[in-house]
Amino acid sequence: MENMLEGKTAVITGASRGIGKSIAIALGKEKMRLALLARSTDKLQEVVNEIQAIGGEAVAFPCDLVDPGAVKSSLDSIFQHFSSLDVLISNAGIFLEKPITDIEIEEWDNVLRTNLTGTFLLCQSAFSRMKDQKAGRIIAIASSASIQGYTHQAAYCASKHGLLGFMRCLSIEARAHNVHVHTICPGGVRTDLIKDTYMGDRVSQGHLIEPDNIADLVLFLIRQPENIDIPEINLKRYAV
Ligand SMILES: NC(=O)c1ccc[n+]([C@@H]2O[C@H](COP(=O)([O-])OP(=O)(O)OC[C@H]3O[C@@H](n4cnc5c(N)ncnc54)[C@H](OP(=O)(O)O)[C@@H]3O)[C@@H](O)[C@H]2O)c1
Repeated sequence: MENMLEGKTAVITGASRGIGKSIAIALGKEKMRLALLARSTDKLQEVVNEIQAIGGEAVAFPCDLVDPGAVKSSLDSIFQHFSSLDVLISNAGIFLEKPITDIEIEEWDNVLRTNLTGTFLLCQSAFSRMKDQKAGRIIAIASSASIQGYTHQAAYCASKHGLLGFMRCLSIEARAHNVHVHTICPGGVRTDLIKDTYMGDRVSQGHLIEPDNIADLVLFLIRQPENIDIPEINLKRYAV
C-alpha cells in the first residue's frame, strides 16, 4: 500500500524528549522529512541520530520559542531547507505548579510566552506559508487544562485555555485556505513534565497516557482525507 506520508515535511517543537520525541520517531518511521525544534541542541541531535538510524530524515533547528526573532528565523531556515511545509506540530510546553499567591510575574510570563505566545508565533509563520500553498495541517498539543481548572495550575491552565481559544480561531481562518487545524487535549502523560508534580506522585501509573499514544493520535489526524475535519480530541485526566 502506498505510504501517503512519505516525503511530506513536518516541523515538531519540543522534540528533544517526551511527547515531541515520540511524535518525531513515529513520523520518522513514516519517512516524513522532519525539522525538530527545542532549546537543548545535544538532546535534539540524539533524536535526529535515532531517526536517521531507522532510515528517516530529520534536521535539528535549536530554537527558544520565547524569542520571536528566533522562531521566525527558524521557520524561514526550515522553509528554505525543505521548500515546503506540510505539517506543523506545536507541542513544546512547560508546566508550573504553584498556588496563585506564590506565582512570580516572571514565572507567569514564562509559562504564557512558552505555551501560548510561542504557539501563536509558530502558527503565524507556518500558516502564512500554508496559505500560499493552499494546503497544510497544524496540530497543537494543548491539555485537559485547556478545558478545566486544577488546583495550583493557574498559569498553566490560563496558557492552555488561551491556546485552545487561539486554535479555535485559527481553524476558522485556516479552513478558507484548505489548511486543517487540530488540537489534542491530553490528560496526564508519562513524561518529565509531570514527574515531580502531584500527578507524577499520585496518579495511578495505570491511568497515565503514554507519549506513543499521543504520537498515534497525531498519525491518525494527519492521515485523514481532506473532507474530514476533526478540530479537537479531548482525553480524560483522571481525578486524584
Ligand atoms: N505530560 C503531560 O502530562 C501532559 C499533559 C497534557 C499536555 N501536555 C503538553 O504536551 C506538551 C509536551 O509535554 P511533555 O510532557 O512531552 O513535556 P517534556 O517532556 O517536559 O518536554 C517538553 C518539550 O518542550 C521543549 N521546550 C520547553 N520550553 C521550550 C522553549 N522555550 N523553546 C523550545 N522548546 C521548549 C523541551 O525541550 P528543551 O527543554 O530542550 O527546550 C521539550 O522538548 C506540552 O505542551 C505539555 O503542556 C503534557
